[in-house]
Amino acid sequence: MADPVVLPYVPSTSIFKNDIFKGKVAFVTGGGSGICQTMTLNLMQHGCSAAIVGRKADRLQASADWLQKQAGNGTKCIATPADVRTPTDLNEAVRKTVEAFGRIDFVICGAAGNFLAPMDGLSENAFRTVIEIDLLGTYNTFKATIDELKKSHGAYIHISATLHYNGLPWQAAASAAKAGIDALNQSIAVEYGPFGVRSNVIAPGLIADTEGADRLTPKGAEDFMSMRIPLQRSGQKGDIGNMAIFLFSDAASYISGSRFIVDGANWHNGGFWLPYPDSQLDPKSIKDLISGSKL
Ligand code: HXC
Repeated sequence: MADPVVLPYVPSTSIFKNDIFKGKVAFVTGGGSGICQTMTLNLMQHGCSAAIVGRKADRLQASADWLQKQAGNGTKCIATPADVRTPTDLNEAVRKTVEAFGRIDFVICGAAGNFLAPMDGLSENAFRTVIEIDLLGTYNTFKATIDELKKSHGAYIHISATLHYNGLPWQAAASAAKAGIDALNQSIAVEYGPFGVRSNVIAPGLIADTEGADRLTPKGAEDFMSMRIPLQRSGQKGDIGNMAIFLFSDAASYISGSRFIVDGANWHNGGFWLPYPDSQLDPKSIKDLISGSKL
């Protein structure tokens, strides 16, 4: 059987100019860790200043320090602690950001909470908690930042998922929340397009080295799951960063209200009944499994 082709991740700094976001400012919820931290780093590497938002002040400050050091180009990052469930916290975080940098151009609504549990194994409070962090948190972040984005003709990116495209077990609360986020994205794009504000969704698939992958992936199944992904690898956090760079850049100035799935074509792969990718790379190897096949 032929070896599968694995297309490598290529960092944004090898593709986009390093100063495309010079003078711009990003406000990123969930920026203390995971893909939102990497998106922040990638924006900073292209000249953007940033404010990151999270619940744990110590961890957030450590992340801001790390981001500034890692970007290594003089761009600044400040920590503005807030719980996205609390509008007054967010208003204060926005105030501090504008005080520090004078403006906000880009907003990433990325703060999320999730765990695996069957619907009847969730308490009402557990369901509400996920909806409050993911969906209401996105609305609250929008509400706190829209006046600044109207002034700057800025753009939103909302971090959604693909899990609500079908009925994924043990993900009812997150699925409902992400479906709501997709709907909010469309409303923001239509209501605020005339103010020069754009809004788009990124729907990441399985991204390695994230809390999401750690919480949601069965242990020991990483290789099997990567094989099921048509592009034959789990995503890197920088794959999501690359999409964020593109969507915030002027190259995307006519793109709004859209969803961008970054998952290596994973959610399209419904062919569960044939060994994969063997059925593609060496069709004859599976001919005995298919009655009537003319392989
Ligand atoms: C059932 C659970 C549970 C579990 C918590 N609860 N974990 N129920 N199974 N595994 C219940 C609690 O018992 C409680 O209900 C209610 O949820 C609220 O829990 P708290 O701990 O009080 O809430 P809080 O401190 O606000 O924490 C929120 C959290 C937590 C979501 C529950 O896990 C968290 O802070 N997560 C943040 C980080 C995170 O989840 N990152 C991963 C995102 S991954 P009761 O009734 O007992 O009061 C992601 C990717 C999606 O979003 C897409 C991937 C492809």
